[in-house]
Amino acid sequence: MEGNGIALQVRGIYDRLGRAEKAFFGGPPYTSEIERELANYSEYELNGLPERSRVVLGSCVYDRKGSVIGFQASTVLYGANPTKYEKDNLRLKGPLSYVQLKKIIVDPNHWGEGISDELLDVSLGLATDLDIGLVVDINAKNSRMISFMEKHQAVTLKNWKTPRSTRMIRMGIS
Ligand SMILES: CC(C)(COP(=O)(O)OP(=O)(O)OC[C@H]1O[C@@H](n2cnc3c(N)ncnc32)[C@H](O)[C@@H]1OP(=O)(O)O)[C@@H](O)C(=O)NCCC(=O)NCCS
Repeated sequence: MEGNGIALQVRGIYDRLGRAEKAFFGGPPYTSEIERELANYSEYELNGLPERSRVVLGSCVYDRKGSVIGFQASTVLYGANPTKYEKDNLRLKGPLSYVQLKKIIVDPNHWGEGISDELLDVSLGLATDLDIGLVVDINAKNSRMISFMEKHQAVTLKNWKTPRSTRMIRMGIS
């Protein structure tokens, strides 16, 4: 299937989420962004990581009919300088080397079926390949995602309030 068809299906999953879950996901995903993330992963599988300090790699899980039922995108930071947001809010000092699970979304009809485990495995696979840890920033009200990460032995590394006063938690697996 073409990247654009896949990206539209991911967008369709987002549209089927409830209001709170939409907010937890962080706003509607742009199809052009999803296409680029999927292309980056294909490129990584063929040629390894590009020489960039931050690259976002995306992957999907499909049902038996070939429809998208889950999507994840992970930023690989390798010797990256912290952004202003990371410096001001997370008090991070560079250089940073870890995989950050930026987006994870499962079709609500398939929650609790292990699709999210498959998506996390891809992200963890990147971390293992590079011998670095994995982190994910979660809205403190997103108890489902927090339980999901706890199930995978993630621990809380930091918590902070965004400029709009949203409480956030950074969880990590080392
Ligand atoms: C977060 C998400 C990817 C997890 O996928 P999932 O298939 O629902 O995950 P799982 O069911 O394997 O794990 C969720 C865990 O939370 C538990 N849970 C369910 N409802 C819960 C609730 N209201 N509060 C706390 N825990 C809850 C489940 O029982 C499960 O644990 P268990 O397997 O030990 O029983 C999926 O729910 C999703 O797409 N959410 C919307 C987008 C989102 O929030 N993305 C994350 C942004 S950081």
